[in-house]
Amino acid sequence: MLTNTYQNVNGTGGELLLGVMGDPIAQSKSPAMHTAALRALNISGAYVPLHIAPERLGDAVQAIRTLGFRGVNVTIPHKVAVMPYLDRLDASALSVGAVNTIVNDKGVLTGYNTDGIGYVRSLKAEAAPDISGARIVVLGAGGAARGIVTALLQERPERIFIANRTPDKAEELAEACRNGGNVSGIAMDDIGEAVAAADIVINTTSVGMYPHPDGLPLDPALLKPGQIISDLIYNPLYTRLLTEAQELGCRIHGGLGMFVYQGAYALEYWTGLTAPVETMRRTVVESLG
Ligand code: ATR
Repeated sequence: MLTNTYQNVNGTGGELLLGVMGDPIAQSKSPAMHTAALRALNISGAYVPLHIAPERLGDAVQAIRTLGFRGVNVTIPHKVAVMPYLDRLDASALSVGAVNTIVNDKGVLTGYNTDGIGYVRSLKAEAAPDISGARIVVLGAGGAARGIVTALLQERPERIFIANRTPDKAEELAEACRNGGNVSGIAMDDIGEAVAAADIVINTTSVGMYPHPDGLPLDPALLKPGQIISDLIYNPLYTRLLTEAQELGCRIHGGLGMFVYQGAYALEYWTGLTAPVETMRRTVVESLG
């Protein structure tokens, strides 16, 4: 029985309306994950996939208010483009320069970014409870790396090296993050020493992702037993990097938890309730087959 009902933000009904805007959107696991979460919380409502072409993004954001959605997630390619249409931007969105969650408070739309904090919550829950003082290497310098480095810096690591195929981008991101802590950019070809001294190595690139699961973002021979190797990719659940790292005696951490916890934070912002994380995780694993 569904017992938790919500006034929608226009005050016209009791259903909690949520969704995810992207282009394409059919592949998204968010609707299945959040639908299961709403059911587990006994909330009457719906979380729907919203296929929004870039030229209709402004209309779609206005429709959140018109239709009385409590909130939406925003995914590729809209995470940056959506920002000018919002009324407020949380510090998490401003520091990353992208939005993945919108909350509608009586027509006032606030943009948040839960990707970075979702990743860190997952890393701490599943692999490294205390990141303070850690030496970290981040592979990649794109949007995902930016969110993760920003969130990692809140945990006060000793240092973060950002390594990227295009070294200028690593240096640029390091420069942008430098006031948050000890961050340097390095070329992917020069990572041997940094990786040897690292406690945690994190892959934020798409190398190894379905449909190219043979890719390796770094030479596993550089890794040492006992290191934590983390991969943002969750399809496949165990990337080649993680499989080879585990064989070498490393502790591994996959990307599924980041996806689950970015959704958990969003759901908590929309409802004020604690997200049913295990139900959400199980649902995504099942939908990945
Ligand atoms: P995201 O938002 O997922 O981070 P992005 O902003 O396009 O996506 O960034 C992709 C990252 O993966 C970049 O760091 C990119 O390296 P470059 O800056 O050199 O392009 C990295 N990347 C993608 N494909 C790669 C490959 N085949 N080898 C090495 N790095 C790769």
